[in-house]
Amino acid sequence: MEYVNICLGFFFICFLVRGLFISLRRSKRVAPGPFPLPIIGNLLLLGDKPHISLAQLAKKHGPIMNLKLGQINTVVISSSVLAKQVLQKQDLAFSNRFVPDALRACNHSGLSVVWLPVNNSQWRTLRKVMNSHIFSGNKLDANEHLRTKKIQDLIHYCHNCSKVGEAVDMGRASFRTSLNLISNTIFSKDLTDPFSDSAKEFKELVWNIMVEVGKPNLVDYFPLLKMIDPQGIRWRLTEYFTKVLHLISGLIDERIKERKMGNRANVDVLDALLNISTDEIDRNHIEHLCLEMFAAGTDTISNTLEWAMAELLKNPHTLEKAQKELEQIIGRGKLIDEADITKLPYLRCIVKETFRIHPQVPFLIQRKTEEDIDFCGYTIPKDSQVLVNVWAIGRDSSLWEDPLDFKPERFWESEIDFKGRDFELIPFGAGRRICPGLPLAIKMVPAALGSLLNTFNWKLHGGIAPKDLDMEESFGITLAKTQPLLAIPIPGFKLVVKRATVVKPKKAPATKEKSTSSSTVVAAAKPKATILKKKVVVKKSKPTATATKQGKKTVTALAKAKKTLVKKATIAKVKKTSVKKVMKKPKTVKSLAKKAKK
Ligand code: HEM
Repeated sequence: MEYVNICLGFFFICFLVRGLFISLRRSKRVAPGPFPLPIIGNLLLLGDKPHISLAQLAKKHGPIMNLKLGQINTVVISSSVLAKQVLQKQDLAFSNRFVPDALRACNHSGLSVVWLPVNNSQWRTLRKVMNSHIFSGNKLDANEHLRTKKIQDLIHYCHNCSKVGEAVDMGRASFRTSLNLISNTIFSKDLTDPFSDSAKEFKELVWNIMVEVGKPNLVDYFPLLKMIDPQGIRWRLTEYFTKVLHLISGLIDERIKERKMGNRANVDVLDALLNISTDEIDRNHIEHLCLEMFAAGTDTISNTLEWAMAELLKNPHTLEKAQKELEQIIGRGKLIDEADITKLPYLRCIVKETFRIHPQVPFLIQRKTEEDIDFCGYTIPKDSQVLVNVWAIGRDSSLWEDPLDFKPERFWESEIDFKGRDFELIPFGAGRRICPGLPLAIKMVPAALGSLLNTFNWKLHGGIAPKDLDMEESFGITLAKTQPLLAIPIPGFKLVVKRATVVKPKKAPATKEKSTSSSTVVAAAKPKATILKKKVVVKKSKPTATATKQGKKTVTALAKAKKTLVKKATIAKVKKTSVKKVMKKPKTVKSLAKKAKK
């Protein structure tokens, strides 16, 4: 009997030691992090700017950190090397999303490309639809005119402000621009008008959605509270989603009617979506996809534009350099075409630098582990939320010299790009969940920014000195500027808001030098003579050095082209046909010059 007792005691001790050993090993393999308090864990460490607090904590605990946010185990990645591991090398294990409770409103997360898991066939189909029917090179090229028009509207709005010396609220103005850009891409329609309040509600709805989604929600840390939704975030989002979905549904009905009547060419995204509508992607998905594009595309683009302008106004030397480049390559006063962007390396550097220092989605969109994952010697437990702190990576002093300074020049000689291959700069994420809107954003941001810089001089409202400009960030689903950027556009040029085609021939410059000072004619020297298609034409009062330089190169051709244009316009006048008709087909200078020779 004694022998049996001894054996049992021995086995019991072995069992205890083994259990202790296993639990010790397990806890050892969890990544380091701050000690969690009972119940709330490390919640108090987040503060109101979690991207900054977590970047500071990472300096102490390392580039992979384990925290307990309420009841949710959270892993924070803060280095480019580990980001590559999460987003590329072990991509599949980290590809699903940690869905915030609020996004369950109107079953949005169950129908949405942002929140569906990657193994769901609907997610794959929706991604394919986005890649091939919305954001492919061909599709984007086909609706470039819509974006150009929205940029013209923005410049027009700034022009009106400049006439009365009023400041432009950059965030609001670019929010309207990107909202209308997306509504035009999807529905071929503006859903908000810069000059009226008629469509104010839609703008306010999208704005409110972004505000609610960006609020920290207790339910996400204590899932038991789901039932009561203590902050009412899901409740309010349900109301906003319902209204937007209702509006979208009305537009879809209208379109279906138009299509039935057969008076419609398949031109925009909605047509494409209705064409491919199947059992898998039904009307519900289409409505939520439209909603998603407004939510994901509006704030991100408009905040980026506002930050870029803020950095340039804070750094007048950089602003001057950017304007000089535009002047030399495009000719001062002109809007920037998407095709021009490749010719503007400094403008591209400015956009990259803005993405580095103000990434719009500072933690990417949170990922989730579906099972225990072995990761760089640690175990990341099942159901952990995974945040990649892109904001911290963009300011990592081991990657970037003077990381807090806005220095676009750092990208001059650098091959680093933001398309998801260089993990030092991943404002759009990487891997299979990389932002599908990237191709649109990287056309829209530089074209709008370049146009703003090239058509006006800018100064800060209220006599604020550049160095005193407030650059504080507000944390939300996107990183907004806390104090709106108010900037006064100063017209250095005469802005003619009418078709180039109605520029009267007798006003055409008479001398060679003068001819080079007209941006209309300089633009005509461009191979595509694209200015002829534009509504907003900016005429300069004085010739610039660049214009003169360009003019010298093409001086003969220009003079001849101009002569021909004047001649044609005069003939048109005589014949009482409109000048517009005569100049309808844009011609290259070469062909114009040839004709003139003949
Ligand atoms: C400056 C502009 C933009 C930035 C910085 C940006 C950034 C991002 C980021 C960081 C993600 C998460 C990627 C990840 O988890 O790895 C994302 C996802 C997404 N973005 Fe964008 N975005 C921008 C513009 C747009 C636009 C214009 C649209 C559409 C109109 C769009 C639609 C989406 C969608 C649908 C997703 C979810 C993809 C998925 O989960 O499969 N984004 N974006």
